[in-house]
Amino acid sequence: MRHDHITSARQLTREDIEAVLDRAAEIAAAPDAVADRHAGALLGLLFFEPSTRTKMSFSAAIKRLGGDVVDMGPVESSSVKKGESLADTVRVVEGYADALVLRHPSEGAATMASEYVDVPLINAGDGAGQHPTQTLLDLFTIRENAGLDDVSIGIMGDLKYGRTVHSLAHALTNFEVTQHFISPESLKLPRKVRYDLHQAGSTVKEHTGLESTLPSLDVLYVTRIQRERFPDETEYRKVAGQYQIDAATLADAREALTVLHPLPRVDEIAYDVDATAHASYFRQAHNGVPVRMALLDLLLGGER
Ligand code: NCD
Repeated sequence: MRHDHITSARQLTREDIEAVLDRAAEIAAAPDAVADRHAGALLGLLFFEPSTRTKMSFSAAIKRLGGDVVDMGPVESSSVKKGESLADTVRVVEGYADALVLRHPSEGAATMASEYVDVPLINAGDGAGQHPTQTLLDLFTIRENAGLDDVSIGIMGDLKYGRTVHSLAHALTNFEVTQHFISPESLKLPRKVRYDLHQAGSTVKEHTGLESTLPSLDVLYVTRIQRERFPDETEYRKVAGQYQIDAATLADAREALTVLHPLPRVDEIAYDVDATAHASYFRQAHNGVPVRMALLDLLLGGER
């Protein structure tokens, strides 16, 4: 892979994506083969926003490659509280680690920070911007379940603020995919993302309801309304609780429909869906470990 920083799914070509997914499949099949591959490597974790899956699966990934983490820990107990800038923080931590993982509430933070460091910097979510490594594990799971060409994918929920949606939509332009976007009018895909998809020649369809599209879908990717990104709580309340699915909703779906969600879910997917053959969101979360192992292996390069 020729990138040193992974800041946006826009930078990933089909070849890049396939290199990561193929390596992830090899690792998933024989994890012991890479158990010492990056012995001594240190991954710097800088999480300025809450995280369970992303942070823990990056930690698991580097440890399963023989390495370890150095973790800034909660913002409240870091020098950020003393007024340190992000640029200074990453410049310091690059001296402690072989690669950095950054999550930050400001869109563009990872791109900005990447300009200050020489070690690979991975964007683990920048506000309502991008979340490219989530996309890699989403694609891995889609490929496992439905393949990545000649598929019809519905992406539903908060398409405006959902960074996993922006990254996934960009990455899917590398494949023969029809993308259906299902959301309330106020949470439609941002104009700049829609523009990029059109530029890439993708087939994009926008809907305000799921009913008419559901029967044609191979994959339904459900997302959480990103409450923390709404400038106004009343705007959130207007859309909260819409766009939920339960087992009954899925009666009209294809038998082979795969339901995904980056998690955490709030109330978008009722618990009765978990017991159906459609539910693949926990497997999707678990795939975060081999996929992040593959990405780290490619970025850290060769045996140490
Ligand atoms: C997502 C995120 O942080 O953008 N979570 C994750 O990384 N799996 C999705 C979300 O918070 O809704």
